[in-house]
Order: sequence, then structure tokens, then C-alpha cells
Amino acid sequence: MSDVKFFSGESVPLEMHKVRMVQRVNLLPVEERLKCMGEAGFNTFLLKNRDIFLDMLTDSGVNAMSENQYAAMMRADDSYAGSETFFRLEEALQDMFGMKYFLPAHQGRACENIIAQTLVKPKPKSVALMNYHFTTTKGHIIQNGGSVEELIGDDGFKIQSDEPFKGDIDIAKLNEAIKRLGKEKISFVRIEAGTNLIGGQPVSMRNMREVSRICRGENIKLIFDASLLADNLYFIKTREAEFKNTGLKEITREMGSLMDVIYFSARKLGSARGGGIVTSDDGMFAAMRELVPLYEGFLTYGGMSVREMEAMAVGLHETLDIDVISQTPIFVEAMCNELQAKGVPVVMPPGGLGCHLDAKQFCSHVPQKQYQAGALASALYITSGVRGMERGTLSEQRNEDGSEILAEMELVRLALPKRVFTLSQIKYTVDRVAWLFENRRLIGGLEFVEEPKVLRFFFGRLKPIGNWPEVLAQQFRKDFGESL
Ligand SMILES: Cc1ncc(COP(=O)(O)O)c(C=O)c1O
Repeated sequence: MSDVKFFSGESVPLEMHKVRMVQRVNLLPVEERLKCMGEAGFNTFLLKNRDIFLDMLTDSGVNAMSENQYAAMMRADDSYAGSETFFRLEEALQDMFGMKYFLPAHQGRACENIIAQTLVKPKPKSVALMNYHFTTTKGHIIQNGGSVEELIGDDGFKIQSDEPFKGDIDIAKLNEAIKRLGKEKISFVRIEAGTNLIGGQPVSMRNMREVSRICRGENIKLIFDASLLADNLYFIKTREAEFKNTGLKEITREMGSLMDVIYFSARKLGSARGGGIVTSDDGMFAAMRELVPLYEGFLTYGGMSVREMEAMAVGLHETLDIDVISQTPIFVEAMCNELQAKGVPVVMPPGGLGCHLDAKQFCSHVPQKQYQAGALASALYITSGVRGMERGTLSEQRNEDGSEILAEMELVRLALPKRVFTLSQIKYTVDRVAWLFENRRLIGGLEFVEEPKVLRFFFGRLKPIGNWPEVLAQQFRKDFGESL
């Protein structure tokens, strides 16, 4: 974020950190990558890390940690109940969001389980309104007998748009849904900021204020998923004029004042491994507290290692440092701009979390029912050793009658874990994606061989329709010669 100009005039996303610990990565020849993809059932989740060159599957639990986070891990206070570590983390969260209570949980979806069990009702079936779902969020709501309704604005699904906050809730849709359903049927309203499945797109403070005002007026609980808050803070600061000169802590505190319950995956927010729920609502706290020892562990560790809790407390504090949180968005922007200049369809404006390829355009010759984004993610691994994640129809769950839900967007997410990759690795990825785009007609579809009922994208196995992966690998060899 530091405004460093280059003499050359080139715009470079300069790193404001140096690397002092490294991990070796391995780039296999294309023939071996083809074999690995086959063994993984054309599902990038089932690849082995040892076979991956650049792992852009996710930022979850794989962000780089700072020297201060590692140092904090050494002073962790290991006790089952009442550890000092818990009180330090509690204080960090109270300070950050200005909320009274903290409930620890082992990761983000564990928080979702607790919230859904507390607020979702099966009879009559309650509805959770939200800007957009996340896979595990929807899974827990459905598991508890509820349903999800999405209220994202129309620009949210546009691949190319000038709208800076594509994650905003459409206020007219929110008002209409409350009127149609009646507030008794609504389990809660949920804001996910930024939004994961629609390209890491941010939510504006203006929108949060308006949604909060409506929810308070109707006495509906407002839940905030802050897992991707770091990127969202950066976008509020840089895209929402009112906040240009506002401190990140002040912005975060205002968010806290607007919400009833905030939860997060600390595999993302705070760059550690864990999760937590904060609230100032006495009733919610009492109801949720009972579930923590049942599913997570005692109230002062919630299934987490105390070392991770210490790292999280420091990581949360560092989230309020613009040089720390800007690194991912400026790399994402550089990557999106380079790909767009080469004609590759990517979600614009760039969001947080990673660069998102639009598989609907990239693989327009592949029917959506043959999992365009899944096929593209597999093809990219074969082409480059880069592992991305399918975020499209494969990540949906079938309807109760077994029919497919065709996703609004078919994306391949190339996540950039915080402060992990270098600029040359980004350039390598852009180069290989551009080659694949030139050769996109070689990509074919996929079909399931083994399809789990719940969260099928995690461990479902597929096979290619035809022999397109072999043909793709042969073309790569022809064009790149001896190169890996
Ligand atoms: C927005 C959002 N919510 C919830 C979760 C679930 O968190 P976890 O993976 O820690 O269970 C994630 C994880 O990616 C997420 O991105």
C-alpha cells in the first residue's frame, strides 16, 4: 500500500516484507502432472501437496505468519480451563470489534454450526437471508432444517462491472424478502464480507449501515461472517471515499457496532488456525455458550491449540496494519490486470482472496452440466502444476429431487495466501493460464464417478469425457519442448 513510484513508470505491487523462512516446491513434468490429476479423480482437493508447484487452492490455514506471531506461540499458556492465552485473545477481539463476549471454536464452520443450531428452525422452515452463501454456511443451515435466500445485487454476478462493492446486499430485495416472509420466518440476516464464492468481492460500509438499520428496526439478528475481513477492510479504505483517512481500527469498530454476532475462520482472518464468535448480545451468548463444550472444547480453548490462539491474537492485531492487509489485494489486482490484457476472462474489478477465472467464457464450448470450472481447474494443474479451486456447479449441492443446481457463476479461484508467493510465481501462473486460454478448445468436460451427497466437491471423484487431458498434455509438450 506504500505509495512507491518506479522510475520506469511501471506499476509494481511491491512487497512490504522480506522472506526469512522458505519451503521448497516441486514442479513435475507434464506427463506426471497428468497422471497425478487422474489419480486425484480430476478433483484438485484430492491432489497431494508434494505433487503441486504453486498451491492456489485456498488461503485457509496457509497464510504466511509474521515473526511476532511465531514469537507469541512460545509463550502460550497450556491449561484446560482459564488459560492466560484465552484472556489475551479475548482482549484482542474485544479491542478490535468493541464486543463483550468471545466464544472460541476450532474453525469457521464450527462457528456456523453453533449459530445455525441456535437460530435456524425446521418447523416452520426458517429462512436465512444473506448477500451470498458460503458452502459450509449453507450446509449447516440445511442440516438444521432451514433454507437460504440470497440477496446479492445484480452486479454481483456480472463478471465485468464497474461496481466497486459487488458483495453488497440489494436493499430493495432485503425489504421485499422481509415483507414476503414476515420477520418470524427469518432466522437471521447474514453479511459475508468479502464474499468468497462470487470472486472475493467486498461489501461497503454504507451497505452494512443500511442493512443493520433495517434489521434493528425489524428486530432481526444480523450475523457477520468476518472470515475475509482483511481484504474487505482494504477495499473500504481504498474504494469508499468517506474512509480514505479513517483508521482501520475505527472502521472495524464501526462494523462491530452494527452487528449482533460476528464470527470468523481464523484460518483466514488473523492468519492462524481456529475460529471464534463475538457478540454483545446476552441472550445469544447464553444460548451459544452451551454448545461450545459439547462440540468444541472448554470455553477457554474451544478445540484450538493455545499456540494457534496466541498467533491469532497477534495476527488480528496485524490485520489493522495496511501494509500487511494490502499485499493480497495488490497482487490479485496485478494478476487480474495482466490476464485481462491477454484477453483471459477474469472477475473484475479484482476482489480479495485471489484471481478468479471465468470458466463460463473460458470453456464456453463445454456444457455447464459437465462442470466447466472443474474441468478448467484440472486442465490448469496439468498445464502448470498450479492448483486452483472450482467454485461453480460442482461446489453446489443437488436439489432434494436429485436435479443439479447450475451455479450462477463458474469460477476457478487462484487464491493468493497472504504473503506467500513472489511476483515471478504470479508471472509464471499468468503465462501458463494465457497458454491454456490459447488452447482452450482442447479442454473437455467431466462427469462424476463417485458423488458424495454433502459437500461433494471436497472428496467427489470424476473422470474426463473423452481423452482431452492426454491431448492437452501432448500439446503442452509440443509447444514447450523440454521445459517443465
Ligand atoms: C466466508 C467464509 N466463511 C466461512 C468459512 C469456513 O471457515 P473454515 O474453513 O475455517 O471452517 C470460510 C472458509 O473458507 C469462508 O471463506
